[in-house]
Amino acid sequence: MTAESARATAPGRCTLVGEHVDYADGVVVCMAVHLGITVTLDRGGTAPPPPLVAATLQALGERGIALPQLGVAIEATLPAGAGLSSSAALCCATAVAALRLSGTRLPATELCDVALHAERDIAGVPCGPLDQRAVVLSPSGGALVLDCGRDLETSAAPWPEGFALAACHTGDTHDVGGDGYRSRRAQADAALRLLGAESFRTVDLDAVEALADPLLRRRARHIVTETRRALECAGALGRGDAARVGALMSASHASLRDDYEVSTPALDAVVAAAESTPGCLGARMCGAGFGGTAIALVDVMDAGRCIAAMQAVLPEPGGRGAWLLQPSPGLAALAPDVLIP
Ligand code: GLA
Repeated sequence: MTAESARATAPGRCTLVGEHVDYADGVVVCMAVHLGITVTLDRGGTAPPPPLVAATLQALGERGIALPQLGVAIEATLPAGAGLSSSAALCCATAVAALRLSGTRLPATELCDVALHAERDIAGVPCGPLDQRAVVLSPSGGALVLDCGRDLETSAAPWPEGFALAACHTGDTHDVGGDGYRSRRAQADAALRLLGAESFRTVDLDAVEALADPLLRRRARHIVTETRRALECAGALGRGDAARVGALMSASHASLRDDYEVSTPALDAVVAAAESTPGCLGARMCGAGFGGTAIALVDVMDAGRCIAAMQAVLPEPGGRGAWLLQPSPGLAALAPDVLIP
């Protein structure tokens, strides 16, 4: 008997180090988090589904997984536009619910491709491959190291015991489909052309510093140094060196603020407030920027104080919410009934 309805919850993600490099062959250290999006699909719905849900169903249809007209209900603990991948979580949860409804199984990496195709190619949002990979492939109890320059190769890094991620949404929402994100991608491509290289992974910093155009020099400097920081962060997690991870997070924020210019005054203020709290090892903006959430690596004993300090500097009292982010396994581990490892 075919099911009449199916439901799935996908976690959001946060990036530890490796922002704005997924579309430039870079390395990202990220993890799925306990906030998520739940999608319920019912056979025989009549209202048109929201655009990203429709795009995901179309992407599945293109792979021969055809579904009838569906009713869609969405519940969220993950806020939209917060830099925590609500769009990828929505597409991935839709795809898993649809697989459940149709009784189909897919390799987990193919689910990532379906969700990326839906968001980027069908809905027209110019995102890279990070979000879907983090939402689906994050390991249990640790971070995911994603190498976008090496065929999206993944590995796991352990989470440092006794530390947590405090997160505070500034209240400004960001938009990956907006001009800021699109122009950064265009500037990254232009810098690579000027450097005469095939990939940022083969570019050295001396060549970047020799670029005559100051704006493209700054953009390229962020991309090259951010992947170095991400590789170092993966190593530091492996050794349980939380202090180094925190320092790399703060350095990542400075680079996103000064060289990539995607931070905001509110994000800078929240990051500075976290960094001056006892027990905080480092802090940064998370996601595409231009608004959204700042995260801080903090001793669990000091997390409450850190969150209060982050919220206290926002113009809108408390911002748009604050959390102690718990690592979550990715969807591949949460939905083994339909996702093949
Ligand atoms: C958004 C995009 C990702 C990535 C990040 C920045 O989340 O969807 O592909 O580029 O911004 O690291």
